[in-house]
Amino acid sequence: MEQNWTPGSWRQKPIQQVPEYPNAAALAATEATLATYPPLVFAGEARRLKKQLANVAEGNAFLLQGGDCAESFLEHGADNIRDFFRAFLQMAVVLTYGAQLPVVKVGRIAGQFAKPRSSNVEVLDGVTLPSYRGDIINGIEFNEGSRIPSPERQLDAYRQSAATLNLLRAFAMGGYANLENVHQWMLGFIKDSPQADRYRKLADRISETMDFMKAIGISAENNPSLRETDFFTSHEALLLGYEEALTRIDSTSGDWYATSGHMIWIGDRTRQLDHAHVEYFRGIKNPIGLKCGPSLTPDNLIELIDALNPANEAGRLTLICRFGHDKVADSLPKLIRAVEKEGRKVVWSCDPMHGNTITLNHYKTRPFERILSEVESFFQIHRAEGTHPGGIHIEMTGKDVTECTGGARAVTADSLSDRYHTHCDPRLNADQALELAFLLSERMKSGRDEKRLAIATA
Ligand code: PEP
Ligand code: CO
Repeated sequence: MEQNWTPGSWRQKPIQQVPEYPNAAALAATEATLATYPPLVFAGEARRLKKQLANVAEGNAFLLQGGDCAESFLEHGADNIRDFFRAFLQMAVVLTYGAQLPVVKVGRIAGQFAKPRSSNVEVLDGVTLPSYRGDIINGIEFNEGSRIPSPERQLDAYRQSAATLNLLRAFAMGGYANLENVHQWMLGFIKDSPQADRYRKLADRISETMDFMKAIGISAENNPSLRETDFFTSHEALLLGYEEALTRIDSTSGDWYATSGHMIWIGDRTRQLDHAHVEYFRGIKNPIGLKCGPSLTPDNLIELIDALNPANEAGRLTLICRFGHDKVADSLPKLIRAVEKEGRKVVWSCDPMHGNTITLNHYKTRPFERILSEVESFFQIHRAEGTHPGGIHIEMTGKDVTECTGGARAVTADSLSDRYHTHCDPRLNADQALELAFLLSERMKSGRDEKRLAIATA
């Protein structure tokens, strides 16, 4: 076990973004109750994900991570989960084909409830109230009562996570994820897309490949890997009391694991080296993420890696870079060089959402072209540095929302109000998410072709 670490040792450290619960005894009682509940995930599953992420770190796989900015109690329907899962799988198939690499699938789901905020208060029509911090903490309705943090909500979040996870496991293993289905859904998207011609070629090639496999006797019926998929869960582990209550010793290894999700990450606002979140994360054995924003210096980063992955284990640490389309060229290369110089094994992932948020017509939004531009730069920079652009981390939904502007079906500033449903940050809708996957896939395919050409002419 890590030195002097316990699941509660974070309580001795300074902490950011912590809600003020009015009743400490009620909070402690809730945490004690949670500590008696079953784990949501098993340590063995977290280890399996870590192994897959080690593959990404070594350049042999690609990570797709995505889901809501914040899950909500109100939108906990089967349709929502199914639509998300469907859009996510379609992206995965397109990316697998483009990268010609296995795609590791990690949802921001079944636990993504707690939100860091840039301000402690929200002002509306001259009224000032505490900020909404996610459904696991307080309510989004703008009135005093709903903004008071309530411990009970942690039990609801636990139950919702359990129910969501149950359905996701059924979808992943019960036939819904059958590759033939996924491909059929994608053909539907292409038929209706204004960019149909551009995507048809890729879809035709996937169809051909599948027909060929069928002809030689490989089908979903006789091959579980075409019928089932590995799907993992993740969230920002912001609310450490909740996380502590679900931190358990794995009986096979004797190690501590967070059992609230397979992978958890540290947000950009809570990654101070000597603070509570880094303390908690250093003692659990799950694969973890660290959000890297423009204020992170190369020295900072190496110190954080020392604290979080002292054994330099591949797959343990994913660096989720979220600089903004206009800052990535300045911020990313120096971090890559520091990590390479020190020989640290990490997964490099690109979050093109959080550095590209603007306000239009009073709506928080993100222009699709800036999201694309950050992803493109991320790929180019890694190519230039000779490192592996390991993955993307996005906020998305399977629904037809109008929260990010742009995309083939051009959501405009004026149409943002049509279906703006997010509880926190603006998400890509299903079409925008799939379009991003197609564009990325083209990019990865051309990268592969360049590499082959370089090898052939060397
Ligand atoms: C998020 O992922 O929703 C988030 C708050 O990100 P960051 O910590 O990178 O700002
Ligand atoms: Co967000």
